[in-house]
Amino acid sequence: MKFSAALAAVAFAVAALTATVVVAQQDPIAARQALMKANGRNAGAVVKMVKGENPYDAATVKAAFDQWDETADKFPSLFPDNSKDGDTRALPVIWTERAKFTAAVAKFKKDVDDNRAKAMSGLDGLKVALGAVGKNCTDCHETFRKPQ
Ligand code: HEC
Repeated sequence: MKFSAALAAVAFAVAALTATVVVAQQDPIAARQALMKANGRNAGAVVKMVKGENPYDAATVKAAFDQWDETADKFPSLFPDNSKDGDTRALPVIWTERAKFTAAVAKFKKDVDDNRAKAMSGLDGLKVALGAVGKNCTDCHETFRKPQ
């Protein structure tokens, strides 16, 4: 009984994984929004530590930096020409000034990588690191995302 439950859980996880991959191929808008939602969740968790609402937790910090890094790797390929319109806040400037957008993603990745060790060193380091990384969120949204 226990065994089959575990097996079912694994099967479900694999199915969910496959679904994510299919979504990314068929619906780049949903895929990039899912990555950004995760960005937001991770930023929220880290901000809580910086504000002193939660204690510093290295595993949470690492998970955030890993996920931001992964987002930066995947993000540029999730803006094909057929994903300009639809339920998206992506601004047309992404497609008209693609090099600028790609550079913004690359800068985000570099700042994530450059600040990872600092963030892992403890709360004081995290405060500095979050400032450097977080600026990318705001800067990119100002230029490439429709205000709500
Ligand atoms: C290089 C550009 C860029 C960077 C860097 C970036 N974002 Fe975004 N973000 C976007 C774009 C473009 C959208 C709109 C996507 C869409 O609607 O298709 C977005 C959407 C979002 C959303 C809304 C997701 C939804 O649909 O509900 C959140 C939350 C978000 N970003 C958080 C963050 C956080 C937090 C960071 C920094 C850790 C970050 N973003 C960094 C470009 C960026």
